[in-house]
Amino acid sequence: MSEAALDLRGIAKTYNPGTPGAVSVLDGVDLSVSQGEVVALVAPSGAGKSTLLHIAGLLDTADRGQVFLGGQEMTGKADATRTRARRREVGFVYQFHHLLPEFTAAENIVLPQLANAVPAATARARAGELLETVGLTARADHRPAQLSGGEQQRVAFCRALANAPRLLLADEPTGNLDPGTSDTVFAALMALVRETGMAAVVATHNLDLAARMDRVVRLEAGQVVPQ
Ligand SMILES: Nc1ncnc2c1ncn2[C@@H]1O[C@H](COP(=O)(O)OP(=O)(O)OP(=O)(O)O)[C@@H](O)[C@H]1O
Ligand SMILES: [Mg+2]
Repeated sequence: MSEAALDLRGIAKTYNPGTPGAVSVLDGVDLSVSQGEVVALVAPSGAGKSTLLHIAGLLDTADRGQVFLGGQEMTGKADATRTRARRREVGFVYQFHHLLPEFTAAENIVLPQLANAVPAATARARAGELLETVGLTARADHRPAQLSGGEQQRVAFCRALANAPRLLLADEPTGNLDPGTSDTVFAALMALVRETGMAAVVATHNLDLAARMDRVVRLEAGQVVPQ
């Protein structure tokens, strides 16, 4: 058992194992994130930040080690169980928003709720509230291509929070924005996280942003070490 929002124990991952192209990325990662704690994950490009976040968010599996979400061990669980836990427990934000281009901002926030069996009217109301918190009420019916990069990323935050997850995983969420926009968008993300009391792991190259989180950890030689 584990009381943490996220507990990673001894996580290892090698891509293309047993081939000449084998890449050992993670080699015994231990990381525990308490409820409400916001952790910055910093490391150079290629160190394995995305790999680690994908394993923590049940988008990929580790070769070794255990993933606990909200105290529940997810290692080796059936795909259906992992998918359900991912939808309920985890919100994921990518560097490039990955919004669905043919749907509006509001619809992009409604869809993950419908996948989680939330009634449509409730889902629409929640989408409206979330868009209001990031100042995008007037953009609710715009498609992603009609939004600026910063607006797209704020919609992506709303989508990640749509099912009120206990854990937010953000993979360089402002890495694709200019410094000024990055700052504003990061502030919006932090406000949402603090308001909901979520735990979060935010991968970033930006040490100024990292310093505004509760704790900074580094990925080094396949392991997580304190900054
Ligand atoms: N599907 C894959 N197959 C083989 N190697 C991969 C695969 N995905 C990632 N890698 C390799 O694993 C290493 C870690 O990649 P990862 O994307 O996790 O790094 P990162 O820290 O997120 O980097 P960045 O800051 O550039 O996003 C890299 O060397 C990458 O080339
Ligand atoms: Mg990455």
